Amino acid sequence: MSDTWQLCTSCGNEIPETDPHTRCPRCRGLLEVRHRPPAQGGAALRATFDARWGVRRGVLASGVWRYREAVLPSAAPEEVLSYPEGNTPLMTSPAVARWAGATGEALLLKHEGQNPTGSFKDRGMTVGVTQARRIGARAVACASTGNTAAALAAYAALGGLPALVLVPKGHVALGKLAQALAYGARTLLVRGSFDQCLELADQASDRLGVYLLNSVNPFRLEGQKTIVLELLQQLAWQPPDWIVVPAGNLGNTAAFGKALAEACEWGLIDRVPRLAAVQAEGAAPFALSFREGFARRHRVEPHTVATAIQIGNPVSYDRAVRAVRDTDGVVIAVSDAEILEAKAVVDGAGIGCEPASAAAIAGTRRLARDGVIKSGDRVVAILTGHVLKDPASVTHYHQERDPAPPHANRPVEIDPHLEEVERAMSR
Ligand code: F0G
Repeated sequence: MSDTWQLCTSCGNEIPETDPHTRCPRCRGLLEVRHRPPAQGGAALRATFDARWGVRRGVLASGVWRYREAVLPSAAPEEVLSYPEGNTPLMTSPAVARWAGATGEALLLKHEGQNPTGSFKDRGMTVGVTQARRIGARAVACASTGNTAAALAAYAALGGLPALVLVPKGHVALGKLAQALAYGARTLLVRGSFDQCLELADQASDRLGVYLLNSVNPFRLEGQKTIVLELLQQLAWQPPDWIVVPAGNLGNTAAFGKALAEACEWGLIDRVPRLAAVQAEGAAPFALSFREGFARRHRVEPHTVATAIQIGNPVSYDRAVRAVRDTDGVVIAVSDAEILEAKAVVDGAGIGCEPASAAAIAGTRRLARDGVIKSGDRVVAILTGHVLKDPASVTHYHQERDPAPPHANRPVEIDPHLEEVERAMSR
């Protein structure tokens, strides 16, 4: 075996890195990418990553490929499809921290909405589409609640590959649908749920021989691990106490667990932060399982304003269970009202995020209030997507009257007279 291979986490089957199956060819279980530990570890590996921090051109300028030893070491620079992506900021906001019940700089926001297509999905897609080209895929496909579709469409365009996306009709935010169309993906509006879209995409990829780039695909997760690697590096490799992440299909939760396990094993860090995965109450099968000690897997009929995480049967369930167990993590669910209030606070701070991202902030507040996150704990919450992804959720919130939500900022319509401007200003 070479330095990287794929392992079926159900039956233990091992297949080469360049095998084109996105599930185990023997049992259809989920695959995991395995790397032999890099030649350097600990301080030497940290120094390698740190030396690349200021690189401005070429693949090492990417906040994903900076960590190439941990992502896809065998990919040659000329094979890599990168915008670049990553390099997202860690932000502080006194207003958000106050609302969430954290103190001062104890709450950091990692804004993945500042990726090229406005969500963290770009980190997985740069690796996924790179791998698609390496194995000679003739087309790429995904099911999506919107962001994966936008990222796939953009990277496929960059790589000159045809893209097929399946989205649940009527449940995709406008910005995301617009991106899929704009970047030129063949876009199917499926009269069904995201979970049905995923089943269909899975079958279609088998039947039509297109490469599936949902987070079933383990190469996507290798890219998404770099959210964690990058935040650790930004903190000078001093891990926070908590990482809080919104959870839908559980790809990120799984990727974060793998990143932390490897970071520990390779000596990048000496302590593992706790993971908190936050679901929307109306789409919380993982939180249900957590409450029962993961005794069984749940499926639900999902309903939430956070359409990105409106998912009833998360595909990375088994991987995510491991991530939560390995990090002494927790899984909670927050209501749509809490999500929308958190979003209004993040937006009002001038930072902005989409509804699903705000679940991380609502979750932080809940955990702080319940004493799970202790006063003084250092928390990094992941803002997964940009405020402009879902403009309708913003205009709806601020114009709702019955009753007006707590942070509503109603627009004021006027005739073109100075007195009316004055009157509006003095209100
Ligand atoms: N936040 C945003 C903005 C998302 O788009 C998603 C997932 C999540 C959180 C949840 O991440 O699935 O890894 O647990 N969006 C997928 C999509 C499902 O199709 O764009 P997860």
